[in-house]
Amino acid sequence: MVRIAIGSDHAGFRLKERLREFLKEGHQVVDFGTESEEPTDYPDIAFKVAERVSSGEFDRGILICGTGIGMCIAANKVKGIRAALCWDERTAELSRKHNDSNILCLGGRILSEEEAKRIVEKWLSSEFEGGRHLRRVRKIVEYEQSR
Ligand code: RB5
Repeated sequence: MVRIAIGSDHAGFRLKERLREFLKEGHQVVDFGTESEEPTDYPDIAFKVAERVSSGEFDRGILICGTGIGMCIAANKVKGIRAALCWDERTAELSRKHNDSNILCLGGRILSEEEAKRIVEKWLSSEFEGGRHLRRVRKIVEYEQSR
């Protein structure tokens, strides 16, 4: 069972609701908002989720906005976060295998519910490969820690 923090802005709200219900079967999911389609600012939700993944309270995070781009930019400002914008199963798989991504960003206005579910399943079931990829990820971590 994976502990997952999930969040969205208004543009990702509907997809977030669907994914939260989907993920409840088999995972521990906590929803950090937003609660409706009323306009909200994606960085507020991105930082809430990213900080909880960064602290170790959750294993992974899922963030959804219109494109996934704003969430990804904001989440990657939080130390220890490797947020990946994924648009198909292949990018989801490689973001885990090569980048050890710990937050998945999705576009609520880009993906269908079925596409998003397939991406999430692939992302959750893929493992980091380590090896030469670990060396590269370590360089990112070292850079971050030296600031
Ligand atoms: C909101 O209109 C939209 O800008 C936001 O959801 C997101 O796509 C930003 O990156």
